[in-house]
Amino acid sequence: MCGIVGYIGKSNASEILTEGLKRLEYRGYDSVGIAVLNNNSIDLRKEKGMFNEVSSSLNFVSAEGNAGIGHTRWATHGVPCKRNAHPHSTPEGDVVLVHNGVIENFSELKQELISKGHTFESDTDTEVIAHLISENMKSNSDTLDAFIKSLKQLSGSYAIVALLKKENKLYVAKKNSPLVLGLGENEYFCASDIPAMIGKTKTFLPMKDGEIAVLSGEGVLLMDMDKNGVKKETIEVDWDIEKAEKGGYPHFMLKEIMEQEHSVQDSLSADVSSALELLNKHEKIDIIACGTSYHAGLIFKYLLETRLKKKADVIIASEYSYSASPDSETLVFAISQSGETADVIQSLKFAKEKGAKSIALTNIVGSSITRMADKTIFMNAGPEIGVAATKTFTSQLAVIYKLVFPERDLSIIKKIIAESLKNKEKIKEYAENMLNKNSIFFIGRGLSYPIAREGALKLKEISYLHAEAYPGGELKHGPLSLIEEGVPVVVLSPNDNTAGKMMGNLKEVSARGAYSVVLTDNKQIEGQASASIPVVSVDDPLLYPFSLIIPLQFLSYYVSTMRGLDPDKPRNLAKSVTVE
Ligand code: G6P
Repeated sequence: MCGIVGYIGKSNASEILTEGLKRLEYRGYDSVGIAVLNNNSIDLRKEKGMFNEVSSSLNFVSAEGNAGIGHTRWATHGVPCKRNAHPHSTPEGDVVLVHNGVIENFSELKQELISKGHTFESDTDTEVIAHLISENMKSNSDTLDAFIKSLKQLSGSYAIVALLKKENKLYVAKKNSPLVLGLGENEYFCASDIPAMIGKTKTFLPMKDGEIAVLSGEGVLLMDMDKNGVKKETIEVDWDIEKAEKGGYPHFMLKEIMEQEHSVQDSLSADVSSALELLNKHEKIDIIACGTSYHAGLIFKYLLETRLKKKADVIIASEYSYSASPDSETLVFAISQSGETADVIQSLKFAKEKGAKSIALTNIVGSSITRMADKTIFMNAGPEIGVAATKTFTSQLAVIYKLVFPERDLSIIKKIIAESLKNKEKIKEYAENMLNKNSIFFIGRGLSYPIAREGALKLKEISYLHAEAYPGGELKHGPLSLIEEGVPVVVLSPNDNTAGKMMGNLKEVSARGAYSVVLTDNKQIEGQASASIPVVSVDDPLLYPFSLIIPLQFLSYYVSTMRGLDPDKPRNLAKSVTVE
C-alpha cells in the first residue's frame, strides 16, 4: 500500500502535494517523492526516508509549477532506496508516474520492453508502466489511447497517476486500489484517500474499478476503458483531519478490519514462486512465529500436514532454541508481520547455524528477516498502524493458502471477507454482554482452534479482559471447572466436520450456566446457544478461518471501545517487539 496524490490548477502544486503526502504518510513511509511540471520540463525529487526528512532536505515546496504528482511508498517490489522511490520516469522523462498496487505481469512486460531497447533503473513494477505508456505513445498519436492500451496490458491492481512532459494534464486510472478525485474551483485533485485533499475541497468523486480520468485546468473527464463518458454524483465530506486519516473511522483498527477485502487481494497477488520451489524440496518444516503470526502458523501446519502430507511443527519463536533440533534437512518458515521481532530473528539465526534453509513471510520489505532468509514472501498488506494485528493476519493466511493450493483460484477469499464485513453492526450487541466479565473462553476444533486463539488474543490485547482459548475437547480436562453462571464462552462451530462434537461442547457449557455465544452457519446449533453470531458459509470448509475471524475482530474492537479504551494503542504492548 502506498499513498498517491496529484494536483492540477492555479496554485503552486508542490505545496499542495507536500501537504497531501504528509497526511498520507500512514499509507507508507519508506520513501517519498514528487514531480512537478514546469514549462515542458519535469522537476522530480525523491529519496528514501520518512516524509519530514525527505521533504525538507529536498526542499519539496521550492519546486515550481501548477501540475504535479506525489507518492509516499510502502515497498512491494524492491528494497526502499532512492532508485525504487516514486515517481518513476522514462529516461527521456516523457512519462512520469506514481502507482499504488501490484502489477502481476510486470516481469513479462519488462522483458518485452527490454527487447525493444528500454533500459530500467529500478526493481519496481511501476517503472514498467511508465515505459509501457511511452512505448505505446510511439504508435498512438492520441495520448489517451496509448494510456488505455497500456492499462489493458496490465494485470493486477493499480491506482495510477501519470504526468506527461508535453501536456498539462494528469492521466488517472484505478483498478482494485483506491483513488478519489477532488473537485475545486478550476483546480482538481486526486489521491489514494480523502485526507490528502482535506482543507482544499469538500467535494469528492470516488473512482470505480475500470474508470479513467483526465484532469486538466478546464475540468475532469471521467470515462470507462472504452472512452464512454461516466456520469456520477459527487459526495460532500466535511471531516476534520484526524478523522480523515482514519478514512472516516474512529480508529485505525476498525479501518484496517474494513480494509481486509482489498488487502487479501493484494496478498493473493504475492509472488510465491521461488519460495514454493524451496518448500517443495523439503519434507520437514519448522514454522516459527509469535503472537498473531503464530496463529497463522498453526493453520499452516494443519494444511501442510493434512493437504501436502509434510511433517510440520509450529513453534513459538522464543521457545525454538530450547525445543527444536533443526538440521540441514529442515526448512524453517518464519512468519513475522514486522520482520523485526527479536524472538523470530534469534530463532532464525539459530536454525541457520544448524544448517537449515529458510523462508520468511513478512509485510516489510528490507526488514531484518528478509536479509537472513533464503527466500522471502511479501504479503503486500500495506502498513498496519493498530497494534493489534488484523489485516496482516488474513494476509498471512491468504499467502499460506496460495502456497498450499498454488493451482487454485482463491479469489473467493475476498468475497468471503467482503460478506463477513457486512455483519459489523450485528456484532455490537454481543460485545455489550461481555463488557464487565472477568473471564471469557473461546473454544474450537480443527482449523477453528487457531482462530479461537486469535479471537482470545485480540480480546485480551485491547480490552484487558482475561480471555483464553481451548480446543473444544480439552474443556473437560480442566477449564470446565471455571464455567459457572454467566461466564461467556464463545463457541466456534462452523458447519464442518467439527460441528457434531462442538454441539456436545456447547451443551456441556450451557448445562453449567455459561453465557454461550456460538459462531455458526448451522441453524441447528444456533438454537442451542444463549446467542449466535452469523458466520458466512463457504463451499470448502478449509476456508472457514476467513469467515470466522472477522466477527471476532469486530467483537474485540467493540468490547475495547465500549470499555472506553483506545484499541489502537493497548497498554504495555508494542507493534514491533525488538527485544527478546
Ligand atoms: C507483538 C504484536 C503482536 C504481533 C507479535 C508478532 O507482540 O503486538 O500483534 O502478533 O508482536 O509480531 P510480528 O511482527 O513478528 O508478526
